[in-house]
Amino acid sequence: MDERVDSFQKVDDVFYPTAETLEHARIKDYDAAYKESIRDRLVFWENAARELEWFSPWTRVLEWNYPWAKWYVGATCNITHNCLDRHLTSGRKNKVALIWVGEDNTERFFTYGELYRQVSRCANALKALGIRKSDRVAIYLPKIPEQTIAMLACARVGAIHTVVYSGFSAPALASRLEDSQPRLIITADVGYDRGKVIPLKPVVDDAVANSPFIETVVVVRREKGGPALSGPKELDWEDWLKREAPSCPAEVMDAEDPLYFLYTSGTTGKPKGVQHVHGGYMVGTYLTTKIVFDLTDDDIYFCVADPGWVTGHSYIVYGPLLNGATILMAEGKPDYPNPGRWWQLIERYGVTIFYTTPTAIRLLMKYGEEWPKKYDLSSLRILGSVGEPINPEAWRWYHRVTGSKLPIMDTWWQTETGMILVTPLACTKQKPGSAARPFLGIEADVVDREGKSLPPNTGGFAVITSPWPAMMRTIYKDPERYKVYWNTIPGCYTAGDVCRKDDDGYFFFMGRADDVIKVAGNRIGTAEVESALVSHQAVAEAAVIGKPHKTAGESIKAFIILKQRFQESPELIQALKDHVKHELGKIAVPHEIEIVTGLPKTRSGKIMRRVLKAKELGQNPGDISTLEE
Ligand code: WTA
Repeated sequence: MDERVDSFQKVDDVFYPTAETLEHARIKDYDAAYKESIRDRLVFWENAARELEWFSPWTRVLEWNYPWAKWYVGATCNITHNCLDRHLTSGRKNKVALIWVGEDNTERFFTYGELYRQVSRCANALKALGIRKSDRVAIYLPKIPEQTIAMLACARVGAIHTVVYSGFSAPALASRLEDSQPRLIITADVGYDRGKVIPLKPVVDDAVANSPFIETVVVVRREKGGPALSGPKELDWEDWLKREAPSCPAEVMDAEDPLYFLYTSGTTGKPKGVQHVHGGYMVGTYLTTKIVFDLTDDDIYFCVADPGWVTGHSYIVYGPLLNGATILMAEGKPDYPNPGRWWQLIERYGVTIFYTTPTAIRLLMKYGEEWPKKYDLSSLRILGSVGEPINPEAWRWYHRVTGSKLPIMDTWWQTETGMILVTPLACTKQKPGSAARPFLGIEADVVDREGKSLPPNTGGFAVITSPWPAMMRTIYKDPERYKVYWNTIPGCYTAGDVCRKDDDGYFFFMGRADDVIKVAGNRIGTAEVESALVSHQAVAEAAVIGKPHKTAGESIKAFIILKQRFQESPELIQALKDHVKHELGKIAVPHEIEIVTGLPKTRSGKIMRRVLKAKELGQNPGDISTLEE
């Protein structure tokens, strides 16, 4: 990460909220609300915390001992009290909390009352095993209600959950177990993926063989006549819960007690256990869910993430439950049994808020507009996107196929930040490809390496200049790696993303700083080139990397997946180069374009450019445990 980053992208369309969107919006005037929120940030975050229930109050809102933060100092609480108990007395006891739908359309419904009982049973079962405050519990489950129940049950007894995405291999699971040393792991016999049965228990057996600290393995059994369990170490979930009482008081936690570790891959070295806490994380996810998605009691909220990654933690489980929302959770992929799957679920359940990823949108674009057109999507009110910069082409498609009038919350944040930090709100104008401006109470900027604020339309580093409640507190067992986030650029939290702000202060994220390509003195963010390529009619997906070049320093190589009806030809390659030249200018034109049928992606859908680069240069790709296949 050295100098500034050049920006070549021009986006000139602007979309304004409709009267209907504005009418519903909780915040009507972003500028005024933002100004008020940062006039005294601590008062703002104190008022947010007061909307929730605490067992005992804080003495100070923030103790900031750079780079270590404590929020709601001295307060006690339990996040599950606010996810469950609070709703039982507020009229939501019989409201549906969770609608689960499987690949084969099996449905399961949980009211807040029922979720409370299930979580309590599981919490009591944890206690019966002697699991208590600060013990770690690993959760290696597919996207089923037991995953949510297990997370909440851990939090309820004060144990720290570490959810591992159920697509991870045995070695990837083992390294996460090794780091977090859980006493218990909760898994399932199988998961389902595009109609195929994916055995999970053998993966756990493999990983557990080398994890002597694991005392118990609990298995949710989904298949008839599944694997035989060998007691007393292996327990059947149903048997485990059967005798437990359906109520369990929430453990009194200090606001700073850890809630979970979630592993995120570093570029090199072992995955980092990002640590979040009960108090500040609760306030941050509560408020962002409420305001960004403009959530009210009538909404049906559908987020397609997996709780195996942070979006699932913050915006399927904690944020929505803290708000007493009705959550739709669907196991399965967007194109199974056909590419109308998600649109069909939106119609069937009357979804009003739909939160997905750019990579899923591009996948659905590939299949064409006829799929969304088959369904009645008129219940939708608010859309969301997360995980990568959404290229303007995908943004416009998403906007058009859902009726050309809905706001898209392009939410920028990270596992480490815990909550959404840069985002549009329902009341703000929208620019395709821009995550708009900082959330209320958040101070973000684009700076150079010295931390100096950059003028509009100059690319630099995205930073957060003051602490926020849901920020990670440390990297488990590795405080030095935590400090790097706050030491790279003086006085700021550095996200590792490159970005520019336009004249309106709108943030346009341009990719990861590590991926910036240096061509003849220009520093080019990957997102702009990829987005230019994807805006060509023949291109479904694109990834670009830099390769060493004798005179230019680096040259740009692009990997392209073509849309189904297009064929590779020298004319097409030339047309793509001309297109990028037209969109961005000569300097950003890829020197090489290779047509491929797949790209290496993380399980949450992000392109792993460093894997492409290592392969291209014949180098070691480093940690690839998060690679999809
Ligand atoms: C990228 C996911 C642009 C970014 C919540 C960030 C985005 C990384 C956006 C974190 C967005 C996420 N626009 N880039 N709206 N959202 N990113 O930890 O590079 O899986 O640093 O958290 O994803 O990924 P993570």
